[in-house]
Amino acid sequence: MKYITKSERETLNVAEKFVQRLKGGEVLCLIGDLGSGKTAFTKGLAKGLGVKNIITSPTFVLLKSYTAKLKNINKLVHIDAYRLDSGAELDYIGVEEYFSDKNCITVIEWADRVKDIWPVNAIEIKFKVLKGNKREIHIK
Ligand SMILES: Nc1ncnc2c1ncn2[C@@H]1O[C@H](COP(=O)(O)OP(=O)(O)OP(=O)(O)O)[C@@H](O)[C@H]1O
Ligand SMILES: [Mg+2]
Repeated sequence: MKYITKSERETLNVAEKFVQRLKGGEVLCLIGDLGSGKTAFTKGLAKGLGVKNIITSPTFVLLKSYTAKLKNINKLVHIDAYRLDSGAELDYIGVEEYFSDKNCITVIEWADRVKDIWPVNAIEIKFKVLKGNKREIHIK
């Protein structure tokens, strides 16, 4: 599915609606350049999942976990792989446990850097910067 958004708000809205398709246990692999809207999309996911906290980029901590409340989904795990060049560190801290948790949604920014640890059921979401404030969001 492809979407063109014209503002950060619209990107948030796409993500907030996309959440309705999730069942729990999904790993969302976000790929796109700096400023292409990956964090904006994650904020929309959080809103749709009923997360009360403010989402900030986990660049320095690798991973942040939030309490979610939507049907059986009770956790949103936000990973930023910008500083990594493989999934080894994530593997070491035990992300596999989140990947296999049916009550958890995991979202990975810069997921192309840690392709070695993508689970088979990963959902790839690509972000492209277009002219103006437009972004193309391609959910595979
Ligand atoms: N259509 C749009 N969708 C999303 N963000 C937009 C859009 N138009 C403009 N913006 C702006 O682009 C920026 C997107 O930033 P965001 O942090 O979401 O990107 P990112 O992909 O997470 O970048 P990084 O790789 O640095 O983590 C914000 O400043 C936002 O206001
Ligand atoms: Mg970001």
